[in-house]
Amino acid sequence: MRMRKKPNLLPRMERCGHLLIDTSEKPSPRRGHWRELMPEATALHLELGCGKGRFTAETAAQNPDVLFIAVERVPDAMVIAMERANELGLKNVYFMDDDAARLPLLFAPDEVDRIYINFCDPWPGNRHSKRRLTAVGFLELYRQVLRDGGQIHFKTDNHDLYEWSLFQFPKAAFELSEVTRNLHEKGICGVMTDYEEKFHNLGTPINRCVGTKLFRAAPPPAPCPLSHSPAVRRYSVAAPSASPAFDVRLGL
Ligand SMILES: C[S@@+](CC[C@H](N)C(=O)[O-])C[C@H]1O[C@@H](n2cnc3c(N)ncnc32)[C@H](O)[C@@H]1O
Repeated sequence: MRMRKKPNLLPRMERCGHLLIDTSEKPSPRRGHWRELMPEATALHLELGCGKGRFTAETAAQNPDVLFIAVERVPDAMVIAMERANELGLKNVYFMDDDAARLPLLFAPDEVDRIYINFCDPWPGNRHSKRRLTAVGFLELYRQVLRDGGQIHFKTDNHDLYEWSLFQFPKAAFELSEVTRNLHEKGICGVMTDYEEKFHNLGTPINRCVGTKLFRAAPPPAPCPLSHSPAVRRYSVAAPSASPAFDVRLGL
C-alpha cells in the first residue's frame, strides 16, 4: 500500500498507544503469553496486513470473546486502523508494526487459532512470487504458530494470485474448503475490508477460501533431484470431529 508520509504520525500513534504492542525485542517477551492480554478470550486470531483496518475493527466488534492481533508493516496505514478501533472502544484488539515473516519470533507454536489474509499484495511476475503472503514459504511460517485444525481465511480480488494460492495451500499441508470465486454473488457476505469494498463496487468478483492446518507427522522431505514423480505423503486432521486421513499429492 503506497501512502503519503503523515507528519503527525507519532502523536496520533501515541493517542492510541494502549492498543500498540512493542515488538522491537525478538523473540518477543509476549511470545507464548498473548492470552494474558485477555484471559477470558476463547480464541486468538491474527490479521496480516490489516491496512486501514475496517475489517479488523468490525470483526473485533462482532466477536468480543476473541482476542485479535493485527500485523501491519506500514505505520501510516496502521494508525488509521488503530484510530478506528479506539473510536469503537474495542478492548479485544491490539496492533503491531511488524512483518508477517517474523511471526515465529512473535508467537509460540500452537498459540494462534486463525489467521486472516485479506487482499495481500499480489507481487505479479515470477521473480517476486516468494513475497506473496500465500507463498508456501509463508504458509510454512504460519504452520509454526497455528494449532492443528487452525485456519487461514484468505480473500483477494486478484484472480491469478488466487488460482496460484490454491496450489500453495496443499503444499504446506493445509486442507482447502469454502473455495469460491464470487463471494458476494448472492449479496454481501461477511465483513468487508477497505480494499474489498472498493473492488466490489467496481464489479470485480471477490475470491475466498479457507485453509485448515492438517497434522503432519514428519517435516516435508527435501526434493529428490533424481525423481520426477510427485511425492505422496499421508496427512490427517487432528481435530476429533474432522474428516478421516487422506492423501495429498505434492508436486515436489
Ligand atoms: C493491499 S493492502 C490491503 C489492506 C487490507 N487488508 C484491506 O484489505 O483493505 C496490503 C497490506 O498488507 C501490508 N503488508 C504487505 N506485506 C506485509 C508483510 N509482510 N507484513 C505485514 N504487512 C504487510 C501492506 O503494508 C498493506 O497495508
